[in-house]
Amino acid sequence: MQHITASAPGKCILFGEHAVVYGHPAVAVAIDQRIKVKIEIATSSTHNWKLDGLVFDPKKHPHIEALKRRLWPSSLNAPPLSISIDGKIPAASGLGSSAALSVAASAALRAARGRWLNGSVNSPENWAEGFSSKISDTDVHSDNQPNDSLRSGDLGQKKRFIAGSNAVDIDECALLAHAVEAIAQGGRASPMDSSTCSHGHIVVLSDRIEDGIEWQYSRKLITPEGEREWQIHTVKPPENDVFLVIGNTGIHAPTSKQVEKVASMLKNNPERMKEIETIGLISRRGIKSLLNGDYESVGRAMSENQLMLQSIGVSSPELESLIQAAAPSSLGAKLTGAGGGGCMVALTRNPKKTSEAIELAGGRTIISSFGASGLMIEEDTDTPLWINT
Ligand code: MEV
Repeated sequence: MQHITASAPGKCILFGEHAVVYGHPAVAVAIDQRIKVKIEIATSSTHNWKLDGLVFDPKKHPHIEALKRRLWPSSLNAPPLSISIDGKIPAASGLGSSAALSVAASAALRAARGRWLNGSVNSPENWAEGFSSKISDTDVHSDNQPNDSLRSGDLGQKKRFIAGSNAVDIDECALLAHAVEAIAQGGRASPMDSSTCSHGHIVVLSDRIEDGIEWQYSRKLITPEGEREWQIHTVKPPENDVFLVIGNTGIHAPTSKQVEKVASMLKNNPERMKEIETIGLISRRGIKSLLNGDYESVGRAMSENQLMLQSIGVSSPELESLIQAAAPSSLGAKLTGAGGGGCMVALTRNPKKTSEAIELAGGRTIISSFGASGLMIEEDTDTPLWINT
């Protein structure tokens, strides 16, 4: 049976979670652990989509449902698919599992559908269909899907067709993943997870275009608190002997609840925006240290960031105990992601020792290199699974 498989890495945040939702700078690093999504045409006669062999339930998988509406709409007679998800990123634990799933699924769907072009594939301005930071006449956030992914007028003329991995675009996958994360997080989501799981390596988000690193694109989102804009940059991983050791508390903590908790704290106490701004300042210092290759200072900024995360109420006793256990053998340690449970991360030159200390304190550990590869198409097909004619 013809199928397509795509994979995307999880991520750890070095600095800036929560503050990044309000437009402040942040840094995330892709980790070795990945999620793989395989798709093929469903063979059952019931016209049901399948997920891991069971009938697909849109309520249980809102990210897949939102992608399906944007890339594989039944209203355009797209045939039902069977999806298999495989991976080593624990869910709801701050490691970007939902963003990695969305990025891999959007790549697999695009490879399976192909893309109509009006001109060159390398200039999204000439795509007859799709989403891109460079296209302003389609709206990835719109409820009116799928027609918004097709262009109207001259630009929408379908002159040339490409399929498989040639049709996949990292920016499109990151953009789609951000849009569906925003839906799942009540309209408040930074592009941190979606961009890191797409591009891999190290991703820096900022409120301005930074000198000396590669700027990729800007992202905008209208949140309940107003419009936000982020500048997304990528940085190659260092040739340095630093590792990430991730400690999982085993407590599930959905991001949407934690983000909502911070939003209502700020609504009731606007003066506490100072703490969010302080996280932004720590991130800015951390970015400088990272670019200078000064990992001792990167670690110190991580630990300082943790104090502010404690102060805004998103840490937990379980996270604190793993962070304390990691401290003596690491350069710095903090929670990663939304907090309230989930994982902490330590930056270390001695991953074995740090991992043992976290395990002794009751955490399950994962060791990762610093900055894994981004999105990959692992199995491809030359013939599309469906063409939107
Ligand atoms: C989640 O990994 C990080 C948060 O900052 C939310 C977001 O950036 O959308 C808590």
